[in-house]
Amino acid sequence: MELLKKLTQAFGPSGNEQTVRDIITEEIKGFCDETKVDTLGNLVVRKYGGGKKLMLSAHMDEIGIIATVIDDKNFVHFSEIGGVKINALHSSKVKFIDGTIGIIYEKSEKPTKFSDLYIDIPNICKGEGLYNISVGDTAVMASEFNLSGDFVSSKALDDRVGCYILLETLKSITKPNYDLYFVFTVQEELGLRGAKTAAAGISPDYAIAVDVTVCDDIPGGGKYPLVLGKGPAIKVKDGSVICHPEIKRLLADTAKAERIDIQYEILDKGGTDAGAIHTTGVGVATGALSIPTRYIHTACETASISDIKNAVKLLSKVCGDTL
Ligand code: CO
Ligand code: ZN
Repeated sequence: MELLKKLTQAFGPSGNEQTVRDIITEEIKGFCDETKVDTLGNLVVRKYGGGKKLMLSAHMDEIGIIATVIDDKNFVHFSEIGGVKINALHSSKVKFIDGTIGIIYEKSEKPTKFSDLYIDIPNICKGEGLYNISVGDTAVMASEFNLSGDFVSSKALDDRVGCYILLETLKSITKPNYDLYFVFTVQEELGLRGAKTAAAGISPDYAIAVDVTVCDDIPGGGKYPLVLGKGPAIKVKDGSVICHPEIKRLLADTAKAERIDIQYEILDKGGTDAGAIHTTGVGVATGALSIPTRYIHTACETASISDIKNAVKLLSKVCGDTL
């Protein structure tokens, strides 16, 4: 899990994915035939195979915050990048690209909007200018990577776990069933932006997005039926896509043949790269494989390692012969 640790700990709010892209670029060396970074910053990794084009996608970006005002006492005011929850930020730490740590606290009791919070960076508050944070700088949640039995907790499992699954899948394939495109996208958290241009550049026949999904098997939860550790989930629908029957069948049949436990995901909201990919060009048969994850968009997103490993196994078998 060292690679997953490295990926999740990397700095990569939407629009600033270069650190994550560099890690992935190192990892794929020797395992692919062609790589390209497109105008928006998507990393497209190709492994030649015959026939139809299959695009696998996972997003590199994570949610974060952006500094909007630095006041005369050097406190930093901010707004969000992506779907950040106010109560997930309160009294916690954020990290800027240079490693500077900021502490988030409330201006008013019961904060309801980002303008009710501020960031305290004690060293710049002394006016000594040790840390050089400017308006427009971005930060991500600061948290440790923890392993405990079958479970992993960290910031940015959304969607570095998808990047990890794509990398492990790529490394395991000996003979592809398709012309394979492993795509590491940008700006998913702002509205599936990178996946849109990446898919337009590739024009795939089939696509499978890999991302986290809501695992609501917690106190007060229960709205959605997924259970942590009971297998990766084949997406049926979310707020952005109704998955193509051919892709659902391909994933389900492969899981059955390989005796991999799977679950089915039906979400009434939310979205993932599949939402942007399936309406590209004249349409792409698109589905998604999701990792059930508790506490999405917090510093302690939690998932099951066996679900992650089973997702790698399933996707590898879909893509071709494996090691
Ligand atoms: Co997300
Ligand atoms: Zn995601």
